[in-house]
Amino acid sequence: MNWLPRFLFPGRHSREAGSTTGRGRLFVYLALTVFALLLSYQLVLNRESLSAVSKWAIGNGLTHAADHAAPGIPSPHPEDEKWEGETGSQFASQEIREKELVLAAMSYSNMSWVHENVPNWYTNIYRADIPPGQADLTVPLNKGNEAMVFLTYIIDRYKSLPDVVVFIHGGRYQWHNDNPLYDSVISINDLQLDYVRETGYVNLRCSWLVGCPAELEPARYFRERPEDKGHPTAVEFPDSFMELFPGEELPEVVGTPCCSQFAVSREKIHERGIEHYQRARQFLIDTKLASQISGRIFEYAWHIMFGKPPQNCLDVRDCYCKTYGYCNMTNEELQKQWVWRGLVLPEGWPNVDPNAGLQKRDEIPSMAYWSK
Ligand SMILES: *[C@@H]1O[C@H](CO)[C@@H](O)[C@H](O)[C@H]1NC(C)=O
Ligand SMILES: *[C@@H]1O[C@H](CO)[C@@H](O)[C@H](O)[C@H]1NC(C)=O
Repeated sequence: MNWLPRFLFPGRHSREAGSTTGRGRLFVYLALTVFALLLSYQLVLNRESLSAVSKWAIGNGLTHAADHAAPGIPSPHPEDEKWEGETGSQFASQEIREKELVLAAMSYSNMSWVHENVPNWYTNIYRADIPPGQADLTVPLNKGNEAMVFLTYIIDRYKSLPDVVVFIHGGRYQWHNDNPLYDSVISINDLQLDYVRETGYVNLRCSWLVGCPAELEPARYFRERPEDKGHPTAVEFPDSFMELFPGEELPEVVGTPCCSQFAVSREKIHERGIEHYQRARQFLIDTKLASQISGRIFEYAWHIMFGKPPQNCLDVRDCYCKTYGYCNMTNEELQKQWVWRGLVLPEGWPNVDPNAGLQKRDEIPSMAYWSK
């Protein structure tokens, strides 16, 4: 029983015990050996958990190689909460970025505009029509338009998300980009990242055309089941909503600026577990709905997914100020910020007559048109 104190205070004990000095030394050596063994075992354990983490990270797109696990199979180690927030030097190669772009493109899309114009953003260009394994970044199934890309990014990168993610379409000039040139570069460069961090979800479009103030009436459509052939998204939305958001109240009114281009903070994405996004992607994979409709259902669901009220139509002036820093706009500037030129921008845009394709707001087609 007296070996323990002797090990802890070998000098004192051996002096006191005189004749037992030899035995005392032996104990000390033995104890030191055990201690050294324990120490090296601990180091081995540490190294194992470290390599598990880095294997996982490689499988999840940190090296730009997406994990194309079969749909429905969760990412490896979804339960491993350990490394999140760890900032030791051993994690330097897996640094968490400040901001990333996620672009939904096709094999034939000319994406050089991204690196040419926003080189300070880490970009994830998904080629949705390229089968898994044949592109750096693609989707398990090319269905549901950009929604499949955005959900795939969130699932693959759930544990390594940057502070802010911007989700946009692949083309630089899009009729729904909210600036006079319809230019994604302007939207990206002027986006106020602090506002995204602060509010969690920011639609890159402020204009209420199309989608605000009240695009869908899910609760009424659920009660009355109207045969609204002109607006299939409205007809399909209630049941889809209940699948996507089980247990959440079916909204009376859904309104948000259209067209699925938005910025989200990591914290906001993490407010829902990865299984929420996996279920949403599985819905897209399984649904019998055509992609225009299932994709558009997400167009009117992202803001709800990211914590905004179902009717999220902000004051336009305030929206431009907070989203882009365009404060103090005159009424004339406000009116010119986004104008309707049709679903396809004039050939050669933006190197064309600035009046090309201009249409009056009341010439914007009715919703029936958008849903076809
Ligand atoms: C792709 O776009 C760039 C401009 O961003 C242009 O210079 C280049 O010629 C285009 N490439 C092709 C193959 O069209
Ligand atoms: C906003 O406009 C007013 C006049 O319309 C001007 O006095 C003020 O300096 C402007 N503020 C900014 C921040 O540009």
